[in-house]
Amino acid sequence: MQKKLKLGVLASGSGTNLQSILESSSSGKIDAEVKIVISDVPTAGALERAKAFNVPVTVRERSSYPSKQAFEAAIISDLKDHCVELVCLAGYMRIIGKEFLAAFPNRVINIHPALLPSFPGLDAQEQALDYGVKVAGCTVHFVDEKTDHGPIILQATVPVLEDDTVESLRQRILKEEHRLYSETIQLFASKRLRLEGRRVRIL
Ligand code: GRF
Repeated sequence: MQKKLKLGVLASGSGTNLQSILESSSSGKIDAEVKIVISDVPTAGALERAKAFNVPVTVRERSSYPSKQAFEAAIISDLKDHCVELVCLAGYMRIIGKEFLAAFPNRVINIHPALLPSFPGLDAQEQALDYGVKVAGCTVHFVDEKTDHGPIILQATVPVLEDDTVESLRQRILKEEHRLYSETIQLFASKRLRLEGRRVRIL
């Protein structure tokens, strides 16, 4: 049997993406296991979801540290303590710093609810709806120092319907996010991703 890839998940919110990763892991759909969940928000729903799967959780609040560097140093050591090989950002609402990326080179991935490079940043679904696009979607990408900017691994599309609200579009995209994140993790676990400049080759 293939050795399981060790994941660390960072989440600030409800954690439905985390939930789908946990489910994919426990059902054997991905050759990966979540070793630790870290949140910067003590009330994040993601923490309860992790506990329900008996995954260790840690809360690291930015306000408890004198600098972003010190805050991230604590997170890096949490991840290293759990021998994490791939860091998955799942609704983590902070920009990752240089030292963090250097500690996990090409080993930090993020999911964004838009077809990047369109609509980076906050409220991506609302941006898409307001812009009037007919097709929306989500992107999993490697993380670099800019927001929602690193090399794109996988994308999925959904239609924008005539009567869509931000919420209905958000839900349609979220369903694809859940599928796409596990698919990406499995590609990483089976060493099928090769980074060539900005292009991610799927082997
Ligand atoms: C998702 O839409 C994700 O793409 C974005 O933040 C949201 C997190 O949702 N980065 P959840 O906490 O996983 O439910």
